[in-house]
Amino acid sequence: MERLNIIPKPNKIDFLGGEVLIEPSKAEFLIDENLGAEEYVLTATENVLRICGGSQQALFYGKQTLRQLRGICPCVKIEDKPAFEYRGFMLDCVRHIFSIDEVKKLIDAAASLKMNRFHWHLTDDQGFRAWVSRRPSAAIDGSVRKSSDFGSLNESGEYGGYYTTEQMKEIVDYCAERFITVIPEFDVPGHCSAILHAYPDIGCTGNPVEVKTYQGIFEDILCAGKDKTFEIVFDILEDLLEIFPSEYIHIGGDEAPKAHWKTCPDCQKRMEQVGLKNEEELQGWFTNRIVDFLKSKGRKAIVWNESLKSGLIGNGTVAQMWMDPKKDSVKFANNGGRIIISDFFHYYCDYPYAMTPLDKTYNYKAIVSGIKNAESVCGVEVPIWTEYINNFERLCFMFFPRFAAVAETGWTNQQNKNASDFRRRFKEYSSILSQIGIKAAAPHEWNPSPVARAVGTLDFMNKNVRNKPKKQ
Ligand code: ACM
Ligand code: ZN
Repeated sequence: MERLNIIPKPNKIDFLGGEVLIEPSKAEFLIDENLGAEEYVLTATENVLRICGGSQQALFYGKQTLRQLRGICPCVKIEDKPAFEYRGFMLDCVRHIFSIDEVKKLIDAAASLKMNRFHWHLTDDQGFRAWVSRRPSAAIDGSVRKSSDFGSLNESGEYGGYYTTEQMKEIVDYCAERFITVIPEFDVPGHCSAILHAYPDIGCTGNPVEVKTYQGIFEDILCAGKDKTFEIVFDILEDLLEIFPSEYIHIGGDEAPKAHWKTCPDCQKRMEQVGLKNEEELQGWFTNRIVDFLKSKGRKAIVWNESLKSGLIGNGTVAQMWMDPKKDSVKFANNGGRIIISDFFHYYCDYPYAMTPLDKTYNYKAIVSGIKNAESVCGVEVPIWTEYINNFERLCFMFFPRFAAVAETGWTNQQNKNASDFRRRFKEYSSILSQIGIKAAAPHEWNPSPVARAVGTLDFMNKNVRNKPKKQ
């Protein structure tokens, strides 16, 4: 049987008969304006090794396919283009920070898998990891926590660090060379303990706030009633806009408890002045004020799905669906909005294979049930949060192969996907990861037996979720 070992699986492969020794240095590259911007055609016969693409980006994708054709291969014509325009990964560099060289390795892997977005989670309760020239205290004071107590992962001593402007620009350039857009995330109004540690007067109470040392959802969120909040948020965004040229900026919006807003005179006054019925609407108003700011700078926002609860988010903003029992994102999509799929139960790679086996990730359909128009799904993104991951080796173990499974869902049309074939191809693809310096989880880890799943799930819950400090 003729077959190729390429990830993501190309959408159309014609075997032309016969075999050829692939010599990448002899390949010719041609722009063909009849092809789409991400579409390429690769022809490999005894006489020709040619890649035609609709753009430099498309040629780059053809090259990634060529890289996976090694030695003697069947003669083929591959006609290929992606299923989705948005194919991303998210890295949390707050709970644990990763070096620029490590981040570059993930970018190399993403590029080899034809992904085109890197969502960089830079701010959260446990640290503020981006240098902001207009507000230096954000990184100087907000980046340091007193210890790290994430479930069973306890590290004594101060933990800190942030990326300099030069480092962030280096990542932007590195990505651009690989046709990947970096989308920075500045998470507001929740997950803001670190920024509140630096600027306590933009919280509702004005009380000092610690950079958090453990995981959780915290009640200290930015005050929506104080004008100063927006001065600081806009200053931080101004800096980020200078570094990151992406059309979209991620402004978070997840897990923002409203306890303080309910009792804060400034927040309550704001609600009355603007005519808002409840605190969810206040979050919608808060988000839209930032959306308007971004719009004035020619940019747009991505938000986590909780922001949609207000019912006030317009269709110019993209929603990222991660945990959405009320299906606000589906409603948003069916009313003309666009969404990115990052379902918690299928795509969160910080959870063990016992809870999220490879096949569960692979088989998840990006057009989630209830979506009327496939066009409303921009694509998929595979996230990793790093409370329980404090080194690159562990990060790679948790990310791969699930990272590649989501990359394949982003590229390969649903009808061309097959889980067992993917597993077979991934074993070949691992050699590219090795060249990059990434070691994936071994095949016996990917799809644990039902008993191993139960044991692994309990173990994870006991170590981490149940072992959570109660007080804030
Ligand atoms: C999230 O996982 N809080 C977006
Ligand atoms: Zn307030």
